[in-house]
Amino acid sequence: MTPTISGTMPPRTIEWVGDLGGCAKLIDQTKLPGELTFLEIQDAPSMFEAILHLSVRGAPAIGIAGAMGAVLGVRDFSGECDAFLAKLDEVCDYLASSRPTAVNLQWGLDRMRRVARASGGDVSALKATLLAEADLIRDEDEAMCRAIGEHGEYLIGDGCGVLTHCNAGSLATSWFGTALAPMYVAHKKGRKFKVYADETRPLLQGSRLTAWELGQAGIDVTILCDNMAASLMKSGRVDLVITGADRIAANGDAANKIGTYGVALLAAAHGIPMYVAAPSSTFDLSLGDGDEIPIEERSADEIRRGFGLLTAPADAECYSPAFDITPAGLIRGLITERGVVEAPTHEKIAALLG
Ligand code: MRU
Repeated sequence: MTPTISGTMPPRTIEWVGDLGGCAKLIDQTKLPGELTFLEIQDAPSMFEAILHLSVRGAPAIGIAGAMGAVLGVRDFSGECDAFLAKLDEVCDYLASSRPTAVNLQWGLDRMRRVARASGGDVSALKATLLAEADLIRDEDEAMCRAIGEHGEYLIGDGCGVLTHCNAGSLATSWFGTALAPMYVAHKKGRKFKVYADETRPLLQGSRLTAWELGQAGIDVTILCDNMAASLMKSGRVDLVITGADRIAANGDAANKIGTYGVALLAAAHGIPMYVAAPSSTFDLSLGDGDEIPIEERSADEIRRGFGLLTAPADAECYSPAFDITPAGLIRGLITERGVVEAPTHEKIAALLG
């Protein structure tokens, strides 16, 4: 039976419990929507596995998971400061290798390295500083998501049909989400609208996670298989597309879950505006355009035997990129915690992130 939760929003996706001897507690998203269960992560290898196998997933959430994983990886270290910093680098490099596309992971780990180097000195004080930084990254992410919701809610009027792809909701962040944040705010303001959630092959983040969390919140949500988006758009029921992003290059090209590029092309063909919602931690201004974004390749078995059932010849070759790139020219606007950038360009993004 689908679990129910108190209130209208999912619980926090990830948080640190207790003091330095505590653990990172996260929702095990591989179990949703059937069970709402939590993992208590006690060491860096377990965090690596949780990220790799998508127990925790979504760009902002894995940024926080990486930061907490770094704390777990160094908290038992005893030795001098220089050796501690070298150990921290080793743990951060290891965690960063779990998933390559979402820049938030690298961003969170780089923040941990920087704060440690800026603090220096006593190793036990450094450990406490790192835990405080991981908590701060979580808190800041929640604040950014709320601001994204406030900036983007004007897009969703009464009667609006909004299509989204994958899960860029509360579950993909600390709490509240990016693409779903404007929907939560519009819903709170009493607007009546309909969300269409692409199922999102092969791991079904749309049907397992987006439909679950929007349903919990009392938002009207309808699931469609990915190959149904064109006919839905043609029927006139979609007025707006909002997705999240895993990495946005300096020119506004955006990496997101595989299939987003197709949705963007379909939206353009039907004259439907497409917005991408993301916090500043998802921008990578060191990359000129989307061609430079590394794309994660996932195991063929996620296609051949996803969720345990053989649905293709066991040895079939598979094409399995986890993400694709939507060119900036197909994006009507970027919704960030600092405001909305319409028709994004290199100059506008640089000015916003200044
Ligand atoms: O492979 P996943 O589930 O981590 O992919 C997640 C997405 O593509 C999300 O849309 C993206 O991370 C934005 S999350 C706010």
